[in-house]
Amino acid sequence: MIFVPLWPISMLKVINVVGARPNFMKVAPIVAAMKRRPASFQPLVVHTGQHYDSAMSDSFFQDLDLPNPDTHLGVGSASHAVQTAAVMERFEPVVLQEQPDWVLVVGDVNSTLACALVCVKLGVKVAHVEAGLRSRDRTMPEEINRLLTDQIADLLLTPSPDADVYLLAEGIPRERIRFVGNVMIDSLQKNLAVARQLQTKEQLGLTGRDYALLTLHRPSNVDLRESFEPILSALEAIASKLPIVFPVHPRTRKTIAELGLTDRVAAIKDLRMIDPLGYLDFLNLSSGARLVLTDSGGIQEETTALGIPCLTLRENTERPITVEMGTNVVVGTDTQKIIAAANAELNGSAKKTMASPPLWDGHTSERILDALEQFHT
Ligand code: UD1
Repeated sequence: MIFVPLWPISMLKVINVVGARPNFMKVAPIVAAMKRRPASFQPLVVHTGQHYDSAMSDSFFQDLDLPNPDTHLGVGSASHAVQTAAVMERFEPVVLQEQPDWVLVVGDVNSTLACALVCVKLGVKVAHVEAGLRSRDRTMPEEINRLLTDQIADLLLTPSPDADVYLLAEGIPRERIRFVGNVMIDSLQKNLAVARQLQTKEQLGLTGRDYALLTLHRPSNVDLRESFEPILSALEAIASKLPIVFPVHPRTRKTIAELGLTDRVAAIKDLRMIDPLGYLDFLNLSSGARLVLTDSGGIQEETTALGIPCLTLRENTERPITVEMGTNVVVGTDTQKIIAAANAELNGSAKKTMASPPLWDGHTSERILDALEQFHT
């Protein structure tokens, strides 16, 4: 009997894993690049369902033109152990059935680690996009996900040279590391013009006005009253000078209620709480903001690429290049330090370094595909 392959032998079948909001803008340009090379790549998309609300998931598929998942694992929210275990249990049969050449995981969420672990145990090759970022803060769940995923992945695709240094220091062989640049910037560059044409600002009554944009969702900031309240005190002071738009993450909305902070937050005049925004609406607001305040990782990078001042409300960052070369200032969570940093931005005395980090050029997805081809044996 003659064996006739369904696709050319050289074609790589790749499962691209998405799970949570910050994954979608990283995977979309990679899948699009694979579709532009149909003779070489057969991309599949698996959504773990870690994030499931329309505003946290579906709207990103639409905004980013990401194809509907080939498989949805429907995992949902749970404790870290239960969520990670559920992803593993449901992902394993998909890998066994599809027999991919590569599984590609991105970022540092629970789905990233869970899927990487499934693959390494099955002997299926895993590539980690955004490898090598380190905050050095092991109380962050994401730091544990990063450390472990990088130890077990076969190919480590890094966004900045500092990531290569961390990986080498952790004993990862040079040949497993490839500096490809920042794939989020591929999405940003592709979508910026469209986002700017939206009426997001107008709909919020911000036309022609200076405003700040705020996001907060880190458990270390929002899960405890003693960490959330000092941030609120700073926001009270900043909002007295500049309206603040605050798309509220579901975790944060829940903790505001649970911690009995609803009235205090509602009393801050000019703090506008709105539902989480889709990718394009958020980009419309971030690209026009006077100032961004955030505890997100990706927003530190997007503001650097946009040249918008960013105050990071954390004690550390796993993205130091945004401080060294970009617009990011890590201010911590002390009330007076946040107010002082915001004042420095508003009165023009803040730092002004600004350059584009190397390979944040909109072509990272192409380099990722090249690396997958080169490292496939
Ligand atoms: C997760 C990631 C974090 C990332 C963030 C972006 C981990 C460990 N954390 O944190 O790295 O920065 O996503 O948003 O993977 N919820 C909803 N609807 C949803 C999703 C979540 O209501 O679609 C609520 C649930 O109450 C849930 C809580 O938000 O318990 C937290 O969700 P979870 O996915 O556990 O963590 P995030 O805080 O979103």
